[in-house]
Amino acid sequence: MARVPTGIPGLDELIQGGFLEGATILVSGGAGTGKTILATQYIYNGAAQYGEPGIYITMEEGATNLWWNMKSFKWNLTKYEQDNLIKIYKVGMIEPAEFAKKFSEEIDRIKSMVEKMDAKRLVIDSTTAFGMWMGSESQIRYSLFKLAEELKEMKCTTIMTAETLGGRDQFSRFGVEEFIADGVIVLYFMPPQRALFVRKMRGTKHDQKVHPYVIGPKGIEINAKEEVLWESLKR
Ligand SMILES: Nc1ncnc2c1ncn2[C@@H]1O[C@H](COP(=O)(O)OP(=O)(O)OP(=O)(O)O)[C@@H](O)[C@H]1O
Ligand SMILES: [Mg+2]
Repeated sequence: MARVPTGIPGLDELIQGGFLEGATILVSGGAGTGKTILATQYIYNGAAQYGEPGIYITMEEGATNLWWNMKSFKWNLTKYEQDNLIKIYKVGMIEPAEFAKKFSEEIDRIKSMVEKMDAKRLVIDSTTAFGMWMGSESQIRYSLFKLAEELKEMKCTTIMTAETLGGRDQFSRFGVEEFIADGVIVLYFMPPQRALFVRKMRGTKHDQKVHPYVIGPKGIEINAKEEVLWESLKR
């Protein structure tokens, strides 16, 4: 099966070269751990290194805000947007009462954007907002499952982010996202240390250790050779 490299230094070597094509990967972590940076880097590298079109779906920040947030990395996002290799789409607030209808409309819109652009990469940042709009755990589970299935059919490889409270054993906000995802990457921040762990990656003989990473001038860089002890992570 084809692999989709993230191009993020130190990450692909932990997961046999990249994500399986069509997989949905959950990137979870506490506030400020670097989920948005990692997800943007995945889309940016797709366009800049691999010539693959990508769509960034944001629930929280609009394009202006996202580009502003990423300014210090000198990624020329605007150029790739103009070349139609990167698209950013903001999903607005949805009233809980009309959730079912609006959500399926949004899924259809995302699908047609993917088709039109022939997008190979997709980001949904973050799924936490979805959960806020939905009534129940089963609704969250069903909606995310349905979306992941559709994207898999289109061979679009997706990163979904999820905000956690930052504890060692928490992998998503609602406790269902990690079961739907084909892979889970967890980010930790224990000042001054940042660490990353591949919690699961279906179909992949993945690395089993916790690794330190830095957010440097080129974004996230993982040190695949160094190890952080599991016991040292905050519970
Ligand atoms: N240029 C930079 N150099 C070093 N660190 C940076 C730089 N820009 C941002 N950071 C770090 O990255 C953090 C923000 O990363 P990011 O927005 O990806 O986090 P997040 O996990 O998406 O957070 P949130 O929960 O708010 O969505 C900042 O709080 C800061 O610590
Ligand atoms: Mg974020």
